[in-house]
Amino acid sequence: MKGIILAGGSGSRLHPVTLGVSKQLVPVYNKPMIYYPLSVLMLAGITEILLISTPHDLPAFKRLLGDGAELGLRLSYAEQAHPNGLAEAFIIGEEHVGDDTSALILGDNIFHGQGFSDVLRAATHDLKGCVLFGYEVSDPHRHGIGEVDADGNLVSIEEKPAHPKSNLALTGLYFYDNDVVEIAKGLTPSARGELEITDLNNVYLDRGRASCVDLGRGFAWLDTGTHKSLLDAGQYVQTMEARQGVQIACLEEIALRMGFIDADQCYALGERIGSSGYGEYVMDFARRARPLTTV
Ligand code: DAU
Repeated sequence: MKGIILAGGSGSRLHPVTLGVSKQLVPVYNKPMIYYPLSVLMLAGITEILLISTPHDLPAFKRLLGDGAELGLRLSYAEQAHPNGLAEAFIIGEEHVGDDTSALILGDNIFHGQGFSDVLRAATHDLKGCVLFGYEVSDPHRHGIGEVDADGNLVSIEEKPAHPKSNLALTGLYFYDNDVVEIAKGLTPSARGELEITDLNNVYLDRGRASCVDLGRGFAWLDTGTHKSLLDAGQYVQTMEARQGVQIACLEEIALRMGFIDADQCYALGERIGSSGYGEYVMDFARRARPLTTV
């Protein structure tokens, strides 16, 4: 399975913060926002990832993440010249996807919850059609919304409906079979001139090939769209990390846990930024993960 992170747009709701820096690079507590969605793809076992951003912001992402080799990843980059819609990711990413299945995640979406890796693994296993991830919200008119029947089947998908049929927001994480590229190419731009992800998902729904996994109540799907929600997300991360002593979205830890790198490589990555609490955490995690004989 191939991964795509869409990290473009102008971040206008976070101006002036995002006048000088990409929204997806602003910190959420102790790490850049992009770490959170990248960690999700890594937890799904995906190592070949295309990061799409604006021509202006792409160099900063490259500076931060490079070719990904140090994390056992293969990262590549592509420009989205204009914010023509989320579904354009599959037209830009056609070559990257090739004849494989794919996962798209929005660069400003933060997920956190126990058992998430299992949920991701189950969704990637024997993927048919598209798999969407739903989350109950109190402000459904601000999201893509899914309606589910009594048997848990998805029956409708609407983008920011004025009169939502449910509270089940469809989050910015999407898994697709290989039809996605052709479907994206066949979409017509919406009234706001965008290739809408909801239109793409509706094609799958019409074909009877869309399903939705409800992430459930014990889960956190955090918004970063406004100054307040960004601060709230940072405080959530700070609280959880301080309380539990574990990091959320620590890429080096996940790379080691997933077997993309070994303990020595992980330790070296931590050592390089060892003067930060994050770096110390990475070194400590790598030390504990080393087989006893080599400690
Ligand atoms: O976050 C989940 C929601 O994301 C879904 O529930 C909606 O169905 C989906 O349309 C989307 O809604 P948003 O209102 O969040 O979409 P927005 O246009 O703000 O774009 C989401 C992110 O993607 C944002 O960080 C900017 C980036 N983006 C957006 C567009 C339109 C791009 O990189 N390229 C684009 O062309």
